[in-house]
Amino acid sequence: MDKLIIHGGRRLNGEIPISGAKNAALPILCTGLLTADDVVLTNVPHLKDVQTMLDLLRQMGVSIKQEGDRMILNGRNVNQFDAPYELVKTMRAAILVLCPLVARFGEARVSLPGGCAIGSRPVEQHIKGLRAMGAEVEIKGGYIYARAKRLKGTRIVTDMITVTGTENLLMAAVLAEGETIIKNAAREPEVTDLAHLLVKMGAKIEGIGTDQLVIHGVESLHGAAHHVIPDRIETGTFLCAVAATGGDVLLTNTCDNILDVALHKIREMGAVLTCCGDSIRIQMDKRPKGVSFRTTEYPGFPTDMQAQFMAVNCLAAETTHVVETIFENRFMHVQELNRLGAKIRTEGNTAFVTGVDKLVGAPVMATDLRASASLVIAGLAAQGETHVNRIYHLDRGYDQMEVKLAAVGADIRRVSKE
Ligand code: EPU
Repeated sequence: MDKLIIHGGRRLNGEIPISGAKNAALPILCTGLLTADDVVLTNVPHLKDVQTMLDLLRQMGVSIKQEGDRMILNGRNVNQFDAPYELVKTMRAAILVLCPLVARFGEARVSLPGGCAIGSRPVEQHIKGLRAMGAEVEIKGGYIYARAKRLKGTRIVTDMITVTGTENLLMAAVLAEGETIIKNAAREPEVTDLAHLLVKMGAKIEGIGTDQLVIHGVESLHGAAHHVIPDRIETGTFLCAVAATGGDVLLTNTCDNILDVALHKIREMGAVLTCCGDSIRIQMDKRPKGVSFRTTEYPGFPTDMQAQFMAVNCLAAETTHVVETIFENRFMHVQELNRLGAKIRTEGNTAFVTGVDKLVGAPVMATDLRASASLVIAGLAAQGETHVNRIYHLDRGYDQMEVKLAAVGADIRRVSKE
């Protein structure tokens, strides 16, 4: 298992190119199941989760040609409608094949994802929506068995805002008969990116970017080309790294207008930001000011950036509080940050962070993707040596994070352990 060794205390200076968004790429790859034509994608990030999704699609019969960040998917010969437990247990986003399979082939057998480190994360809204569209769905032996001759448009109101739930149901509705209305839809930019590709493929969708999607189902979809949006969470993670260490870094290939809240909070921390649409320059030359926040659905403060901002708050002079409203167990980084000298206490879904003058390096263990990123940020700012263990979590969602950080002056290296 690999680990990262970081010698903290270096300012970061230079340029970091941002990769395509993981959480946009994963549903977008599933559009390869929705048509017999080529779907041509660019800006696909190099991530473990992307490879896992490609393995799953290949098993189903999707042909995939890959060259750098460009990919051509063809679903003409799909003949397996199965997502096995062995695969789904390693990546919950595999649930995103459920609706495309039922919509185009009339059947699917997909393992129920279990709980995960950050919460129980059930998928009953995906199932409820599919049933409302006329599918017969049975849960047996840990698997979802779904069947439908042709899905039928209907009104769907999800009990809560769900990102992959909205994406899955959207991919069902585009091929359903008649009109589907998805109320309480997630408005995350990744959902919007998927919708834009579906429209290019011939889908009829109104209300893109709002909480009510109206879809007029079509008989079939055709091929299209699409450039995946930049990863706003990767962008925010590097902004936090510079806010913690100080420095002057230009983030390129990104997009400032899908990051409003995070940019606002980074400015509140004392950084100077210069945004030019697809690039963001951050200059930071003082101790970060602590910022309190509460995670909510887009366009609110993203839960996927909670841990990274908390790492910066640890170094502030102020006491701040962080409220996590999306997942019930997303404070796994707290104990690890405390091992580096942070002073954080949690009470229910609130973390109270009392800033300290310095963090001191120590061995720490990553527990999930964004928790791992927060430990890297803390390690970069800490005095001495930090070892971040179990970084396979990082590789699931960050494209060569340590290489990008080393290029801007961080003392960080990956070592392989037996
Ligand atoms: N929920 C239910 N039932 C459902 C669906 C969701 O109770 O049927 C609950 C969840 O348990 C959670 C809340 O609703 O408490 C929101 O979950 P959501 O469905 O929106 O999360 P997700 O679609 O499983 C995506 C991202 C996550 C990100 C969340 C929230 C992908 C592949 N994953 O997950 O990304 O945290 O939305 O924004 O898009 C990450 O990248 O580190 C990550 C965890």
